[in-house]
Amino acid sequence: MHRLAIIGFGDMGSAHAAGFNALPSCEIVATVEPDAARLAYRDVPWKNGAPPNFADTASMLRAIKPDACVVAVPDLQHRAVSELVLDAGCDLFLEKPITTTLPDADAIIARARERGRLLQIGLVYRYSNLYRRMAERAAEPGHPVRLMWCKELRQCFPQRPWFYSQHATGGTLVEKDCHHFDLFNWMIASRPVRVFATGGQHVWKSGAVIDCNYCPDEPRAIEEIDTIDHALVTIDYENGARACLILCMYLRPENVMPEGLEVGAIALSGRQMIAYRDERLGVGGVGDPLAFERLDMWADNQGFGHIGCQQQRIEFLECLEQRREPFANGEVGRDSLLVALAAERSIREERPIDLKEFAACPTCA
Ligand SMILES: NC(=O)c1ccc[n+]([C@@H]2O[C@H](COP(=O)([O-])OP(=O)(O)OC[C@H]3O[C@@H](n4cnc5c(N)ncnc54)[C@H](O)[C@@H]3O)[C@@H](O)[C@H]2O)c1
Repeated sequence: MHRLAIIGFGDMGSAHAAGFNALPSCEIVATVEPDAARLAYRDVPWKNGAPPNFADTASMLRAIKPDACVVAVPDLQHRAVSELVLDAGCDLFLEKPITTTLPDADAIIARARERGRLLQIGLVYRYSNLYRRMAERAAEPGHPVRLMWCKELRQCFPQRPWFYSQHATGGTLVEKDCHHFDLFNWMIASRPVRVFATGGQHVWKSGAVIDCNYCPDEPRAIEEIDTIDHALVTIDYENGARACLILCMYLRPENVMPEGLEVGAIALSGRQMIAYRDERLGVGGVGDPLAFERLDMWADNQGFGHIGCQQQRIEFLECLEQRREPFANGEVGRDSLLVALAAERSIREERPIDLKEFAACPTCA
């Protein structure tokens, strides 16, 4: 039985608690949540009674010795909390983005290696049948992907100030689109070399009243907003492939267009793939009409939320048992962060960014 602690009991931490609690081979032995108001989320049907809550990670780690911790605190705190967890000898499931800067990402990866602990990042798409199937098709001989795109047109983030702070998140493209940059990196299977982006604030500016349609909090004005709410990003890869992200964060109340989140790929052969709404994968071209594949869309989330979410938990527990490297490991998390940081820098400095710049000066992000 794996003994887990959940650190950060907000939207994501409470979802992890519900998901892990439902798996037979683990038990949640503690939570860490400093904000008493958020503990209202603790309506999980705990299988062994509600675990104790602690106001900070250090006291939890002193009092309870979990085998592993699930960290779902705001991005800026990922490094500090992760280091406490790893130094206490626990394995780590760390929510995406791995963190907000490359030096912090490198520090987390190095610390996990030094301590001999497992590190899995919450890049949940990597555990979904839909995107695993798309990656499988992308790896088929004769159809190397050379163009990809993602249309992430959505509603705003929840009305919690940290989501709207560049310092706290590394930027919207870090906080949100590390998922999508990871899909590009995965399916194109080459190193990103150059990023060119443009973006800014159309709607969400300091003082705007935010009312996110899935956030349980009352609408509120966010005093200071220094993050972007839209962007166009292009990425060049070493193997000649190119990818493009279109981001909009101000649809109301949400994306009502039939394609929803759209991720597409075109191979050198002319074969085409398209994923809609995290629900459907179509493959066609090269003599074949577009055909939507039959995929089990329930197995990898089992009713617990986002596609892949329960599978990522199951595989985390398997990694603990088998001491094997997680599929979404620290390096994969770092690579998606690198693209996101380059895109943020490109917008700020209004120029294309050669990713070698980050090797020369990782702290310049
Ligand atoms: N994988 C995904 O698709 C996905 C989806 C949503 C959020 N996330 C990630 O999960 C993390 C949390 O996001 P959220 O939406 O749950 O935010 P949230 O604001 O709802 O929750 C964060 C919680 O952490 C608590 N907290 C803050 N500092 C803490 C600390 N030092 N120790 C313990 N608790 C602390 C806060 O009080 C809050 O309750 C972020 O990194 C976010 O990017 C991932």
